[in-house]
Amino acid sequence: MHKNYGLNELREMFLKFFETKGHLRLPSFSLIPQNDASLLLINSGMAPMKPWFTGEQEPPRHRVTTCQKCIRTGDIENIGHTARHGTYFEMLGNFSFGDYFKRDAIHWAWEFLTSPEWVGLEADRLYPSVFAGNETTPADDEAFRIWNEEIGIPAERIFKFGKEDNFWEHGSGPCGPCSEIYYDRGPEWGCGKPGCTVGCDCDRYIEVWNIVFSQFDNDGEGHYTELKQKNIDTGMGLERLACVCQNVASLFDVDTVMNITNKVSEITHAHYGETAAKDVSLRVITDHIRSSVFMICDGVLPSNEGRGYVLRRLLRRAARHGKLLGVNEPFLYEVCDTVIHENEGHYPELRERQDYITKVIRTEEENFAKTIDSGLKIFGDMLAGHKAKGESTFSGADAFKLYDTYGFPIDLTLEMVEEQGMKLDEAEFHNQMDEQRQRARKAREALGDLGWAGVEFGKDVPETQFVGYDHTAIDGAKVVALVVENEQAEELMPGVEAIVVLDKTPFYAEMGGQVADHGVISADGVTFQVTDVQKNKGGKYMHTGKLTQGVLKVGGTVSASIDVKRRKAVMRAHSATHLLDAVLRKVLGDHVHQAGSLVEPDKLRFDFTHFAALTAEELSQVSALVNEAVLEGYEVSTEVLPIEEAKQRGAIALFGEKYGDTVRVVDMGQGFSVEFCGGTHLDNTAKVGVFHIDSEFSVASGVRRIEATTGLKSLETMNRAQSLLFETAAVLKAKPAELREKAEQNMAELREMRHTVEKFQAREAAGETERFLMGGHDLGELKVLTATLPNADAAKLRQMGDMLRDKQPNVVAVLSAVNDGKITFLAVCGKEAVSKGVKAGDIIKNVTAICGGKGGGKPDSAMGGGNDLLKLDDALAKVDDLVAEKLGL
Ligand code: ALA
Repeated sequence: MHKNYGLNELREMFLKFFETKGHLRLPSFSLIPQNDASLLLINSGMAPMKPWFTGEQEPPRHRVTTCQKCIRTGDIENIGHTARHGTYFEMLGNFSFGDYFKRDAIHWAWEFLTSPEWVGLEADRLYPSVFAGNETTPADDEAFRIWNEEIGIPAERIFKFGKEDNFWEHGSGPCGPCSEIYYDRGPEWGCGKPGCTVGCDCDRYIEVWNIVFSQFDNDGEGHYTELKQKNIDTGMGLERLACVCQNVASLFDVDTVMNITNKVSEITHAHYGETAAKDVSLRVITDHIRSSVFMICDGVLPSNEGRGYVLRRLLRRAARHGKLLGVNEPFLYEVCDTVIHENEGHYPELRERQDYITKVIRTEEENFAKTIDSGLKIFGDMLAGHKAKGESTFSGADAFKLYDTYGFPIDLTLEMVEEQGMKLDEAEFHNQMDEQRQRARKAREALGDLGWAGVEFGKDVPETQFVGYDHTAIDGAKVVALVVENEQAEELMPGVEAIVVLDKTPFYAEMGGQVADHGVISADGVTFQVTDVQKNKGGKYMHTGKLTQGVLKVGGTVSASIDVKRRKAVMRAHSATHLLDAVLRKVLGDHVHQAGSLVEPDKLRFDFTHFAALTAEELSQVSALVNEAVLEGYEVSTEVLPIEEAKQRGAIALFGEKYGDTVRVVDMGQGFSVEFCGGTHLDNTAKVGVFHIDSEFSVASGVRRIEATTGLKSLETMNRAQSLLFETAAVLKAKPAELREKAEQNMAELREMRHTVEKFQAREAAGETERFLMGGHDLGELKVLTATLPNADAAKLRQMGDMLRDKQPNVVAVLSAVNDGKITFLAVCGKEAVSKGVKAGDIIKNVTAICGGKGGGKPDSAMGGGNDLLKLDDALAKVDDLVAEKLGL
């Protein structure tokens, strides 16, 4: 019996085995394909090595072995429901690029699987298969013979299958017939049906290894050409191998994966085997968090496009399954540490980027949490609506609303709809998406997209030669084309707005975030003011502007000169942007990548991947380090290099950007900052002047923005701050250096003064009450008082009344105020008065009735209103009678 190896052990064994066979061990490539637009995410060991298979590029060695992170999302809706599917897996592979072929590949696969020194599986449980042949490609007799004669497998144990099973290809690229190795897990895993054998869909015979004899190139449209060299591309699912070795049911039961599920159980209190529905949710969460951690580590961020959408879909699906398990808080981020712990031995970058990964996941969970509850509720309402009408199709417009307003990825809605046994009108959903895109495009056009730049010229108009790295003005340029309102023209008349194309130009066209140069194109008596420059697809520089004098003709000779002051300011900002990029990486870490930039005269905007807001210390450190690099006066050099050499020098390329064979590399301080860049730069960093950060904030999930200034703009900011300081100092009659002390002093004085004023006001109010009381007269043992208060409102009446009542237990007071022709009355009775049966509520009723109004309240305090001003005095005069009556006087 073979040993029960752990997943991490198996990975190491495989790589070591192939090292003993002369292979170069390489780390896994990123999940993000480089220079391969045919794939969204790496899905097999060979995918990142296509140029080595085709011979386009020389591999570092002709034998290579890797364990490659892979993502396949084709089966996403099955994940969780079956034990076999996962979106994330690792593929073990050994590769030959025009080196060994079928014989060695088969022998080594057999040795690794069966030798007791290595995995030690029982040979009689293994079954190979070979390609049976079809109209275009013959049967693979050679592979059959090797298995049969050299390895010694009886002919009846070797299976022959058609293209479906034994010809490997994935989209375009290298492909070929293959030989697979199946493992028989024993009848207890089988379906028990009579014909059950290798190739059956059940869980008994599982395919562990695929050896592809990679000898064709598929152009993606089904045309195959022989590759120059014969290659080997093998793939063995690491989790599958572990499944076999550990004799467990599924990839979810493999040691490292189970540890992740256990962590999920700990948080959700749901455990495997409790109910089928819980098992599905636990598997979905376990699988999706694995994929997400690895994708984010490689630089994918949640978004609505491409890879970012896949990631968002995985995280949101997992979040919803968390909800199904009763977890209403973000929780996926708490599982990151376990995923990292289980995998860091082979992928140390996970631990380095742990904080970042955790934050990306948490932020996405929090964003979704904001809308998921209302989204689910709306979904429930929509569903009920459909059901009430007896409909079995869920509307595409509803699905669009869930997507657009509540962030529900369409597949999530689809899944929820299918759970209800309904269909989704996907066509309608996509219609609405298209409409939205069109609306967005129209809006962009309305904002003034440069329609002109789309004008295509014939081959007779050559590409413009850009001479602006070395020149700010040139003579003898030729006008090769003119465009007015989207039409080519032969000449321009004064006053017209147009586009001028020259054979060569010192004008920089807007590119790579750097704005275009401004300036003039001129000849004798001719002036064309340039206010924008764009480079079109054909490499022509489109100088946009206005002809202010003279006539400009195609074929004419002109001078072209840029606004040098403006260009210098742009260069200051651009060079500072490079310094900022380098410094951010130093201060925050290597996960920082440029996510966009805008370089204007002395002003820059730099977007970068990072999760938290920068602390005050980080910001001041960044600012200090950039200014230090400025003061160092680093030389700036530019060189055009072959791309590989540029990469070796550590030049930073933009994420996901495509480059040609040669690139321009800008170096500052011999390695302090090295970037691929076509922009214009200073020759020395000192010329940046002062670098000043204006603001730092978030622009999207996981993307921060820094806005900063250089040169003159920084000086302006500083001067403005300085003037403000002097002006304020003058107002406060202090020296700038004493400003703070003076301001604190003033604040203290102000506080004291306010205190004094409040004391005065309180005393005055008390005095007013006294004076009031003196205005009253005795009636029996009570003191009756009536008054109309000037400038009072209801609140003031109440305040006054409360004071009187509390101060004088035997008082009966009726106060009134007149505002906008309306009377407000307040009556109060002190304790003693109330005990003698005099009640404020009764009094107010009577008094207000006299003035044609009404009111009421409690015995000690009551309010009311009236309209008849002429009766006000009568009403107040009535108070005495009312009191006297109660007292029986
Ligand atoms: N490229 C082959 C596969 O992925 C080995 O199965």
